[in-house]
Amino acid sequence: MKLPSDIEILVTAQQITQRVESLAHEIAGSMTRDIMIVSLLRGSFIFTADLIRALHFCGMQPQLDFMTLASYGNNTTSSGKIEITRDIIENVRGRDVLIVDDILESGNTLTFARNIIQERGAASIKIAVMLEKPGKRKVAIDADFIGFKIPDKFVVGYGLDYANYYRELPFIGVIAI
Ligand code: IMP
Ligand code: MG
Repeated sequence: MKLPSDIEILVTAQQITQRVESLAHEIAGSMTRDIMIVSLLRGSFIFTADLIRALHFCGMQPQLDFMTLASYGNNTTSSGKIEITRDIIENVRGRDVLIVDDILESGNTLTFARNIIQERGAASIKIAVMLEKPGKRKVAIDADFIGFKIPDKFVVGYGLDYANYYRELPFIGVIAI
């Protein structure tokens, strides 16, 4: 597969590190110590790994599980149809849950995830996303904690992919596709 080689850096690795630290402080300031994190794979794995370590330094003691959601669509847009391809193992009943995702765009993915966690009896649910594209929402949902608001461009890196490539980039960049 031929990959675009021009990547314009939008958020540097250093900016990400600083922002994740302050996000952890925001989360620690408004949630209990004992949360259950539900990280939505695959895009949020790096953000989650950095965030839980930052939360440690803020005195929190999160538990962690992963859920993989797939949306039917092409590589760059998500459709409204979503399914669970890997479910969490932990029980969220009665728990204060923090859902962690890479990016909030249409809101379909996070709405689906939040509804499931809600139906399973979570005591409270908050949402943290690394990125938000404002103005792209198809359903009304907001994140409680947002790393960066970015323009409506297709971004890769820091876990985010294009056809499962570029996840390893330590920065967030824009590719021309
Ligand atoms: P939503 O369901 O439209 O809010 O989209 C969320 C999902 O679409 C994210 O979890 C990403 O996997 C994917 N996505 C949306 N925008 C981008 C992007 O700019 N780069 C890479 N993935 C994206
Ligand atoms: Mg994703």
